[in-house]
Amino acid sequence: MATAARGLEGSAQPAPGGGAVPYATLITLIAALGGLLFGFDTGVISGALLFIIPDFHLGPAAQGFVVGVVTLGALIGALLGGAAADAVGRRPTNIAGGAAFILGSLVSAVAPDVATLIVGRFVIGIAIGLSSVAAPLYIAELAPARRRGTLVSLFQLAVTVGILASYIVDGMLAPTQAWRTMLGVAVIPGAALVFGMLPMPESPRWLMKHGRATEAEAALRRVRQDQKVEQKVDAELQEIAADIAQDRPAAWRDLSAPELRPALLVGIGLAVFQQVTGINTIIYYAPQIFEAAGFGSATTALAATTGIGVVNVLATVVAIALVDRWGRRPLLLAGLTGMIVSLLALAVASADGTSAGTSTGWLGATTVACIGIYIVCFAFSLGPIVWLMISEIFPNRIRARAASVSTAANWAANFVVSLTFPLLRASLGSSLTFVLYALFGVIAIAFVARRVPETRGKTLEEIAADWRTSQGAVAA
Ligand code: BGC
Repeated sequence: MATAARGLEGSAQPAPGGGAVPYATLITLIAALGGLLFGFDTGVISGALLFIIPDFHLGPAAQGFVVGVVTLGALIGALLGGAAADAVGRRPTNIAGGAAFILGSLVSAVAPDVATLIVGRFVIGIAIGLSSVAAPLYIAELAPARRRGTLVSLFQLAVTVGILASYIVDGMLAPTQAWRTMLGVAVIPGAALVFGMLPMPESPRWLMKHGRATEAEAALRRVRQDQKVEQKVDAELQEIAADIAQDRPAAWRDLSAPELRPALLVGIGLAVFQQVTGINTIIYYAPQIFEAAGFGSATTALAATTGIGVVNVLATVVAIALVDRWGRRPLLLAGLTGMIVSLLALAVASADGTSAGTSTGWLGATTVACIGIYIVCFAFSLGPIVWLMISEIFPNRIRARAASVSTAANWAANFVVSLTFPLLRASLGSSLTFVLYALFGVIAIAFVARRVPETRGKTLEEIAADWRTSQGAVAA
């Protein structure tokens, strides 16, 4: 390895400009474009739909399908993403995600009829699924352990920026009813993702796992070029090699192996709790919730929704700053507590609104406050940390597949919650529906407290070793 390292000295020089942006950060920003598109494409449809409905004469069922097919595509894309990230590598899977974003956006933008639009939206869903597995995985495997939380959280920051951008684009293009441009504009970040990823290195862990030790070393030295500490890279390489040598290659059926169960439970559990605590009822239905709370016009409701988008972005920055200092568990526990309290307050406010009917001023203000606090608490906890932990808690040999199953569970839960929210509101009423999400929040707190390990500052291999030790302790 040392010989190969000397041969690679040329590539280990600091980046032009004195390494102003650390290379790992640059790689993260490019991979995170997948998150930007994930956020944009889930958000953009709400505004576009207003004009697609009259153009294509869509009934309620077709409307639901145009929106929901993305989530179904994402579920399938997430499952494909794990196998692809293992077989061809993390980098090509991210590139494939970018290419699918371009294709799906083009097809949706030029769709002559609703069937073509649905196909385009399905392809976008596949792209979102591929990216939501491959981008956090790629970032986590390239990040230095002490900055991994911050870097993977940048993926979630990109998701929130994408959601906000979609509200802004929808708002800007609404006067001209240009729904095709709303959907088509995603081609630009899609192209940036594909072309930006082309010169990027493959994950050293994937290369090592595939017996390509020299390339793994080259990749790691390239990524750590700003670190300038040769020994650290050597030690990291040895740690990765030793970890991979211990394990045999994994297949899908290994997901049911008893030693993987505790980690898989954490991955799937966090993924599902991120959704069943109701985030997307706010993100997808905020204008309706605001209108129900007495915001007179759709325009005011839309302005309030954009405000939610801004708060979501800003509060994610808090996680970026704290996740590697305070750790994952304190942020998760604090965020969930705030989410539960604000959901219960929202439930009380909604109950009051239903009975009193006229107290819309108070109701409107309380609703805005509760939703604002809820979003802040989600954005510094479950938002980024779920993607982070899914990408870091699994051992090298099975990481991609286990992450893909957890991510698919996230999309399945997202689908169920988005589909059932209007039905629950109609049958239980808003108030009890929010109580239900708060209840899931309480279960999530107990789950985090009992099951979720602290991974702050540990290398991926140390995290895997911790699971092995705790298994040994249980067996003994
Ligand atoms: C979730 C999405 C959600 C978004 C909101 C993501 O972490 O997976 O379902 O819409 O956060 O910011």
